[in-house]
Amino acid sequence: MSKVVYPGSFNPITHGHANLVERALYLFDQVIVGIGTSVDKEPDEYLSERIDLCRLALGEFGDRVVVKGFNGLLVNFVRSNNTRFILRGLRTLTDYDYEFQMLEMNRHLDPEIEYVLLPTASQWSFLSSTRVREIASLGGDVTAFVHPAVAAHLAKLYGPKN
Ligand code: PNS
Repeated sequence: MSKVVYPGSFNPITHGHANLVERALYLFDQVIVGIGTSVDKEPDEYLSERIDLCRLALGEFGDRVVVKGFNGLLVNFVRSNNTRFILRGLRTLTDYDYEFQMLEMNRHLDPEIEYVLLPTASQWSFLSSTRVREIASLGGDVTAFVHPAVAAHLAKLYGPKN
């Protein structure tokens, strides 16, 4: 069975991520969504919520999509899932710089690792988790960008506290 690891922060998962997973399923039998943490980003709080929300948002793909959290190096996570393929989406030239830096570092750590870089669907090329979080935290409507369960989670997270 051919497998690819799709790593990311998924904070939160968006329709752009789900579209990439859907298209990767034309290339691989199984997509393993690996939810990790970037040292540049927030601490690892809400990991279990992110896993649950990814499972809900990707539920339509059944057991061809598996969602797991991981700590430590991505290359180790990829190997522990018996594959050597990493999937990432590319939106802009800025993404390209960032992805190539990560790609080269990971290739140095494990020269057999191969990247599959798919351009994001043009419909979602402007979409980012950071902007979704920002809009939600300011009370804006994010239902066009994320699964309803994710929108509800963000509303609860940022809504009025009782
Ligand atoms: O969606 P993001 O925030 O761009 O995802 C970044 C992520 C989680 C894929 C990246 O930070 C990562 O691979 N973290 C695991 C730790 C690691 O292996 N770091 C070295 C990468 S060169």
